[in-house]
Amino acid sequence: MSNSIESVLVETRVFPPPASAVQGATISGMDAYRALVAQAERDPNAFWARLAREHLQWTKPFTQVLDESKAPFYRWFGDGELNVSANCLEAQIAQGKGDKVAIIFEADDGKVDKITYSQLLVRVSRFANGLKSLGYKLGDRAIIYMPMSIEAVVAMQACARLGVIHSVVFGGFSAKSLQERIVDVGASLVITADEQMRGGKAIALKPAVEEALAMGGCEAVRRVVVYKRTGAKVDWTEGRDLWMHDVEAGQPDVCTPTPVNAEHPLFILYTSGSTGKPKGVQHSSAGYLLWSALTVKWTFDSRDSDVFWCTADVGWVTGHTYITYGPLACGLTQVMFEGVPTYPDSGRFWDMIARHKVSVFYTAPTAIRSLIKACEGNPKTHPRNYALDCLRIIGSVGEPINPEAWMWYYKNVGRERCPIVDTWWQTETGGHMITPLPGATPLKPGSCTLPLPGISAAIVDETGEDVPSGSGGFLVMKRPWPAMIRTIWGDPDRFIKSYFPPELKGYYLAGDGAQRDADGYFWIMGRIDDVLNVSGHRLGTMEVESALVAHEMVAEAAVVGRPDDTTGEAVVAFVVLKRSRPEGDEAKAIAQQLRDWVAKEIGPIAKPRDIRFGDNLPKTRSGKIMRRLLRVVAKGETITQDVSTLENPAILEQLSKSL
Ligand code: PRX
Repeated sequence: MSNSIESVLVETRVFPPPASAVQGATISGMDAYRALVAQAERDPNAFWARLAREHLQWTKPFTQVLDESKAPFYRWFGDGELNVSANCLEAQIAQGKGDKVAIIFEADDGKVDKITYSQLLVRVSRFANGLKSLGYKLGDRAIIYMPMSIEAVVAMQACARLGVIHSVVFGGFSAKSLQERIVDVGASLVITADEQMRGGKAIALKPAVEEALAMGGCEAVRRVVVYKRTGAKVDWTEGRDLWMHDVEAGQPDVCTPTPVNAEHPLFILYTSGSTGKPKGVQHSSAGYLLWSALTVKWTFDSRDSDVFWCTADVGWVTGHTYITYGPLACGLTQVMFEGVPTYPDSGRFWDMIARHKVSVFYTAPTAIRSLIKACEGNPKTHPRNYALDCLRIIGSVGEPINPEAWMWYYKNVGRERCPIVDTWWQTETGGHMITPLPGATPLKPGSCTLPLPGISAAIVDETGEDVPSGSGGFLVMKRPWPAMIRTIWGDPDRFIKSYFPPELKGYYLAGDGAQRDADGYFWIMGRIDDVLNVSGHRLGTMEVESALVAHEMVAEAAVVGRPDDTTGEAVVAFVVLKRSRPEGDEAKAIAQQLRDWVAKEIGPIAKPRDIRFGDNLPKTRSGKIMRRLLRVVAKGETITQDVSTLENPAILEQLSKSL
């Protein structure tokens, strides 16, 4: 277990929900919450079956709820059929929401586009018909490598409409990462754009696709469909490449949704683990959609009149659940943003909230922390200068939010009247798991509070036994839930190894350390494995190490995280070169070269913040790298631990010196 568990948080401030948030809430008051929790515990199958009937539209109703016969490969609602896109579009239009705005899209340069539910259905249907005419069908895999755009939602929804399994790759990932995902899913289709715009700069996407395809192993890709975002000149392969608007052109406005089995994979999304290459997390159609819709209703207490804004990118799970699927399945109006929070200045988020009258705002602690800093430097962009009275609920996701950032967010953005929902969840969980309910849960800054009804979160020791409150342990889920990961695409053994270790009694192991306080509130203490959280993005230390040693100059590398005020954690790499250890300006130049290399191998988010060169790495006599010591060195702290088992203790001093 990582040493981050050692500290015990002492936080005594409690903020009960304001009466205005309790009144009329979907789950109103703690008694209502407890009643739902009790219902779920008494008869989980009846609980989930009722919700799945109430919140989803089925083309073939299910008769089975949970099938545990092949645990941990659970199946939910396994004999039912539905279509995810029909639930997000036709089902809303049937409720009279055809003319309601589905997406308010704001481009990097401030240009705003709106699309109603009826218009979105037409776009999705035409594009789906176009894909169908190209021969794409149920079970095919499509890679989506696109900027934040209505077109990205159209592409995902069109895949869902046909039962084509999508795998979205974040636009910030490199050609190499893209190629690995194309190969792993066996994609026959790639949907991309010429370029994306971020902070006033154009960033090429299509060239990365060309580069990825040229790396080999991608022979299954028959078509590359390109959304024309900027009109930049791009290389073109006749017979393979098509413009998205040409695929849509002339297609009928109606595309009958393909009914799929409840368990049909809706998507595969890659995320980092402690070993090896990123894992393709496979999600289901029905269970996933149920939880997407339900958590939007519960956690954000969504109302028909809301303007919802989740600032995540569709390349991450947050963008899947809380942009493409959840808000649409609830018939909400949502804002979608192409750019970055600091362009044209760091007041962009607050300005957009005021202009679009956003009532529910959902962002990441790293964004909050960087905006706190930014408005210290430029007071004009402080949230106090913007009309934020439209806000009702504000949320946080992706990493622990430190109590100071929580208080700032609560006071300056929420004006002490908006509950903060600090939502703990993961790519693998599909949706929120532990989170306050805005109309019920008293808040404590820095705690994600209590599990949602139906979610059996617990903290256990190495043998799966519950630990007493106040003690640290492994965060687990004792029972399966509908939106859980189904498997790792193509690697069922790794699925079992990663999430269901035999000593934990069949519980789902989240990979986080946590503790509970006397009120049963959960406090997440960070990962227990070699996974880092940099600006809310998950990164495996092994991935960065592999990228570094793939460089011709590098003999050996060890990567650890160190705490960082803005990004949560920062990547620190300890590197041994094949040549002698560089110093001074030469060391700086090589470090820069290695950073650029990592950006090319994985993506800019994986670039090491610090690189330290050594003649060797601290190792035990059996040759094991002592990462525990490297973490201390990375923080700039003095080593107090016993180093007598080290082969080469002197190396620590050398590595302590930054460039
Ligand atoms: O360590 C936890 C942290 O992010 C991890 C999941 O990362 P990912 O799969 O990329 O999903 C991010 C978006 C859901 C978790 O294992 N994490 C996520 N939310 C929180 C959090 N840590 C503390 N508090 C949170 N609210």
